[in-house]
Amino acid sequence: MSPRTELIIKNNELDNTEDEKINIESKQYNDLLKIYEIAMHQVADTLNSIKERLNNMYGYTIIEKIDSRVKSKKSIMNKIKKKGIAPTYKSLVDNVDDIAGIRIVCPLKDDIFFIKQIIQNMPTLNVIEEKDYIYNPKKSGYSAYHLIVETPVTINDETVIIKVEIQIRTVAMDFWSEMEHEIRYKTDNKLSKLDSNKLTWYAKALEKLQSKIIKMYRKHENNSMLNY
Ligand code: GTP
Ligand code: MG
Repeated sequence: MSPRTELIIKNNELDNTEDEKINIESKQYNDLLKIYEIAMHQVADTLNSIKERLNNMYGYTIIEKIDSRVKSKKSIMNKIKKKGIAPTYKSLVDNVDDIAGIRIVCPLKDDIFFIKQIIQNMPTLNVIEEKDYIYNPKKSGYSAYHLIVETPVTINDETVIIKVEIQIRTVAMDFWSEMEHEIRYKTDNKLSKLDSNKLTWYAKALEKLQSKIIKMYRKHENNSMLNY
């Protein structure tokens, strides 16, 4: 945990408890999650203003939508178990980077790289980690660009640095990953090899078809740089 995070935790009366086990009903835990919520809103606000600016600048949509969420207490506990880390406040803050998460959906893969470049250049967002599942899709077929950014949150005159995960995906991959997640959940993660292989293939096929349609659409959109 950074010294600044320690500071805010002290402000929120979490001092001496940072190595303590998480108590999901406690005020401390709720306060910690609130800090993540503030961080998430700050980052989402920045991204929404980028979205407005870009969509006004070009004649077509570059950011389709931006969703955000703070992980539920249940999913946080599941993640702690899955990662095999200590169920303490310190270990949570140090090891779980997606307590606050934002998802950006773009029409094309090229748009994803354009957006991630803008994020990298934002002075208020410090990119500390990047994962390119576009050039290196997961075995499942999942493809996206993931960034972990740090944003300063100020409460009671003290500033702490909070991590927020940003996932940037295409419309096709957003649809695919929601469905794939549901299918795996419904089958208790026991999907047959055949169905798993099909899903991997569908991911690629969907992406290709969606890209062809968007490119056709943009070709016919002749006023693309109108307001630039
Ligand atoms: P974590 O410790 O969970 O962060 O694992 P990681 O760092 O190896 O993975 P990463 O952060 O790159 O990606 C985790 C997130 O990406 C998940 O919470 C999902 O939202 C998304 N994701 C990754 N792989 C898949 C996949 O195969 N299917 C779907 N539907 N989503 C995926
Ligand atoms: Mg991760």
